[in-house]
Amino acid sequence: KKRIFSGIQPSGYFTLGNYLGALKNWTILQEEYDCIFCVVDLHALTVRQEPKELRQRTFDSFVQLLACGIDPEKALVFVQSQVSTHSEMAWLLNCYTYMGELNRMTQFKDKSAKHPENINAGLYTYPSLMAADILLYQADLVPVGDDQKQHIELSRDIAIRFNNSYSPTFQVPEGYFPKVGARIMSLQEPNKKMSKSDENVNAYITLLDDPDTIMKKVKRAVTDSDNQVRYDIQNKAGVSNLMDIYSSLTGKNRVDIEREFEGKGYGDFKTAVGQSIIDSLKPIQDKFNELSENKDYVHQLMKQGAEQASKISHKTLRKMKKKIGIYEVK
Ligand code: TYM
Repeated sequence: KKRIFSGIQPSGYFTLGNYLGALKNWTILQEEYDCIFCVVDLHALTVRQEPKELRQRTFDSFVQLLACGIDPEKALVFVQSQVSTHSEMAWLLNCYTYMGELNRMTQFKDKSAKHPENINAGLYTYPSLMAADILLYQADLVPVGDDQKQHIELSRDIAIRFNNSYSPTFQVPEGYFPKVGARIMSLQEPNKKMSKSDENVNAYITLLDDPDTIMKKVKRAVTDSDNQVRYDIQNKAGVSNLMDIYSSLTGKNRVDIEREFEGKGYGDFKTAVGQSIIDSLKPIQDKFNELSENKDYVHQLMKQGAEQASKISHKTLRKMKKKIGIYEVK
């Protein structure tokens, strides 16, 4: 069975972009592959976090994964900071990662431009921690949205470099991207990706938004004055984005959708898109509310996950240390 690893930051309620770009695929992949999913709270520390909020969001993120359909009987789910191998491996990998490589990372450039007051070393070495996450579990495939492509490439390069310097140690991972939904855009600025850290709450839909809020946000989504539902990323980015969302949620393709709304305006189209989101999120929200009440159960799952992840990852870490020449007392 192929091994899958992926992670998500607890930096807010998950967005429709997270869901369509990653989480939805995770729930499908767990049926067939050996899957490991992680709430990467250490990555979230690269921007300032309110301690109380971070704690709550880490819990909520774990619960959201379960609510989306990640089944702890089928997949291993855990919180990154509860497994110490990640931090340890990240240091080791930092010593096999070039500054030139990190300098090229667009996410680092974007985030430093956004937070010029806090360009910390963690933000810079973020990709080595991500490579540690992936390589520790010998993952074959990493299901993510388009924005993570560059980080996965770097993880591959680091793995290949280490394997070549010593001997085969790491599985070289590959990205796995959804056909539709790999890049869901902001509802307000459709040339920018939908992000949970956007200042404008109308730019994104979270998995826990109530039906009224969802419909309002979709109705307010930026489109164009042409009033024709037609896929054209260049000239009709807003409409194309809504079509991608609708397509991903309903399984209808672009041609089906254009036909469905032929001769109808954006009003009807937006109502249908909004409704498809509301209907898709309803079971997730119900499950979230139910599980949130059951803290002990969630904690038990977290502990189990961390224990298992620790076992698997220690194997890789030991192997790596041995090759490097880290002194070991038997
Ligand atoms: P994060 O937390 O930003 O996003 C989690 C997942 O959601 C995808 N995603 C999107 N997909 C489509 N459209 C969007 N607008 C959109 N926004 C986010 C992301 O591509 C991602 O798959 N660095 C990672 C977390 C991470 C990780 C890992 C991922 C840490 N270690 C190891 C894979 C493997 C991140 O910040 O994701």
